[in-house]
Amino acid sequence: MSLNPSLQNCISLTLIEFLENHEPEFLTLWQEQIILEQNDIHKEKVKENGYFMYVLIKKTLLDTISDTEVQKLAYKVAQERVDANINIGDFVYNVNIGRSILITFVLKSDITGEPLNSIINKINAQFDRFCYFAVTRYTEIKNAELEEKNVFINQSHNDKLTILGQMSSSFVHEFRNPLTSIIGFNKILRTEYPNLKYLDIIELELDQLKFRITQFLHTSKMSLVDQPKEQVKVSQLLETILELLYPSIIDSDVQITTEFDDCIFINAHKDELKQVFLNVLFNSIDAVQQRNASRKIYIKCYEKEDQVIIEVANNGPMIPVNVQETIFEPFYTTKELGTGIGLFVCKKIIEKHSGNLTYYSDESLTTFYIQLPLNTSLST
Ligand SMILES: Nc1ncnc2c1ncn2[C@@H]1O[C@H](COP(=O)(O)OP(=O)(O)O)[C@@H](O)[C@H]1O
Ligand SMILES: [Mg+2]
Repeated sequence: MSLNPSLQNCISLTLIEFLENHEPEFLTLWQEQIILEQNDIHKEKVKENGYFMYVLIKKTLLDTISDTEVQKLAYKVAQERVDANINIGDFVYNVNIGRSILITFVLKSDITGEPLNSIINKINAQFDRFCYFAVTRYTEIKNAELEEKNVFINQSHNDKLTILGQMSSSFVHEFRNPLTSIIGFNKILRTEYPNLKYLDIIELELDQLKFRITQFLHTSKMSLVDQPKEQVKVSQLLETILELLYPSIIDSDVQITTEFDDCIFINAHKDELKQVFLNVLFNSIDAVQQRNASRKIYIKCYEKEDQVIIEVANNGPMIPVNVQETIFEPFYTTKELGTGIGLFVCKKIIEKHSGNLTYYSDESLTTFYIQLPLNTSLST
């Protein structure tokens, strides 16, 4: 049953008069119940908006309001809530408190029956519309902010990669060729003068230098993809690397415990894997240096489902939770002489081999997990 419009209008006018008589009481009640954060920079505006909403509802009762007007207030409130950095839940709660109080007052008026129903429906519909506009707008603004931050993060990541690429190309060319030739001549010296002193030390230092330079090579586009993949016996490669690191291990007084499953083979670029194992191990050795005694590194290699897992764990300090992803970013380093590209390169290599490089770190142990498919195929 629909009411005669002029009768409805008359009822609305009576109700508005009733509401206006109770206006201070109504607004005070609302202000007492709403959630207002101490740090809300628009505290006063929240109260003012409550009043605007009340005016808007009065206009709704008289059907003299357009959607644009509701939308305008909702958008203004949404922007203020974003600026004040307030949870949108608080806002929705406050609006609904207003709705409940208003409806309680309407119920206290003399209106009954169908006119009362129709008024309550109108009020509810308007509150719903207002909330819808405000929350939608709030979400849009927040999403846009997030998008802007992501663009910034990606941009600075890309900038770093560009610099790294440019540095690597020139750097690698300038240093690698002379280095290769020095290593070659050092070998000749060794053959011609087997008893010459210091050649071991020179060779070791040159190998370390080569390792560092090769790290950069992997960050540039000229990685070693054109070299063929081969069957790599993982335990053997790990043993070779431990031999290479032997002087550093002794020097740092680290106790190494190994547990290698002996029959694991993967199809991979050996030099690239070597680079990964070396870097993860160097990092572990660096980490345990921060302990005064009882420095330990555990290396394991085993099969799990169709994966090969290589675990490198050390009892150095925990990696803080707030840098969890950052350690894989190029140039992130906490070391005085670090480059911060080691883990970045490792991750790239492992992912190129369709694997995963992750870690877990707590107070007692930091473990890096290199996970590779048993039959590795290149994804690039
Ligand atoms: N095993 C580890 N224990 C503690 N911190 C580590 C470990 N491995 C890496 N990190 C942290 O990650 C950073 C980045 O490592 P990496 O990319 O290899 O660069 P670099 O070794 O040149 O610093 C290190 O400086 C260190 O802070
Ligand atoms: Mg490193």
